[in-house]
Amino acid sequence: MFGYAKWWLKSMFGSKAPLVNTMIIHYACNLRCKHCSIHSGYAEAEAKQIKTKLTYDEIVDDLKLQFRRGARIAYYEGGETTMWSDNGKDLGDIIKAAKDAGYTNVGYTTNGTNKFFTGSDVISVSLDGPREIHDMIRGDGVFDELMKNLDAVDFSGSIYANMVLQKDNLEHIEETAKIVKENKKLAGIIFNFITPPPSSLALTLEEKKKAIAEIRELKKQGYPILNSKKGLELLAEEDWSKKCPYHVTVFIIPDGSHHNGCPMAGTPSCKECGFAAVREYYLIKRGSISTINEMSSIFAMSKK
Ligand SMILES: C[S@@+](CC[C@H](N)C(=O)[O-])C[C@H]1O[C@@H](n2cnc3c(N)ncnc32)[C@H](O)[C@@H]1O
Ligand code: SF4
Repeated sequence: MFGYAKWWLKSMFGSKAPLVNTMIIHYACNLRCKHCSIHSGYAEAEAKQIKTKLTYDEIVDDLKLQFRRGARIAYYEGGETTMWSDNGKDLGDIIKAAKDAGYTNVGYTTNGTNKFFTGSDVISVSLDGPREIHDMIRGDGVFDELMKNLDAVDFSGSIYANMVLQKDNLEHIEETAKIVKENKKLAGIIFNFITPPPSSLALTLEEKKKAIAEIRELKKQGYPILNSKKGLELLAEEDWSKKCPYHVTVFIIPDGSHHNGCPMAGTPSCKECGFAAVREYYLIKRGSISTINEMSSIFAMSKK
């Protein structure tokens, strides 16, 4: 906790050091989810001969660089993270590299269709609804693959579900929360709203407010909802272009460029931001004790 307290104190005095190092390690993916534009971006980048993958050495260099700047949480994103490889190294090797570099909490996000790598502290699995809805969004058989891999995994850290609310799953919030509550491998669920593109699946403000009221009620009833209470309320605020806590997380993307806040910073997407993490980072930066308490049990601790 000392590392986090030091980061926060420095940030109060104007430091722009990041707390989280988020690394988009490659764009490749085995799925084509309806709400995700990574796969079309991948095709575009390949066509323009732009780099679509970070190498092992680039990842290790960046881990060291951002650790020196103050980052203590490392998070791998994709593409599908479990498919990343470079010269015989895989996701397990870069999780270990982050631990060796000194990061307290190391995590990654996955669609759960491959075997889990278990060296991290946290795993985020995408769950966009009950079987029929999840598969309609992510592809046939994906829900069963995820559940099979969850059943099989022996993991001592926290696995949580990440649901992106969009037109197709808005009516399935409670059902999904129930699946998580009944699955002993899952510590809880975080709700986000889709951030366009694609606009066709985006939600109206009224739809968002209704969803937040439902999630708040489920949280009161004891469902394991990991959005902090204040973070949940802030999900109704759509335009984060002026409020985004840009420096809390630094991103590196496969072409090697760095972006504060998120790779969409400064684009029209900021006006319809649906990412729950942005709200939680904002509250943490402002020193909200209740949010720091709610978030730290999963996202700040090391399992070792
Ligand atoms: C880009 S994926 C990468 C990791 C992995 N392939 C997966 O599906 O979990 C990370 C998370 O971003 C979410 N995501 C994708 N497109 C999004 C969008 N337009 N708005 C909000 N979240 C999105 C996914 O649902 C997933 O939970
Ligand atoms: S599995 Fe992840 S990266 Fe792949 S298409 Fe779906 S959301 Fe995008």
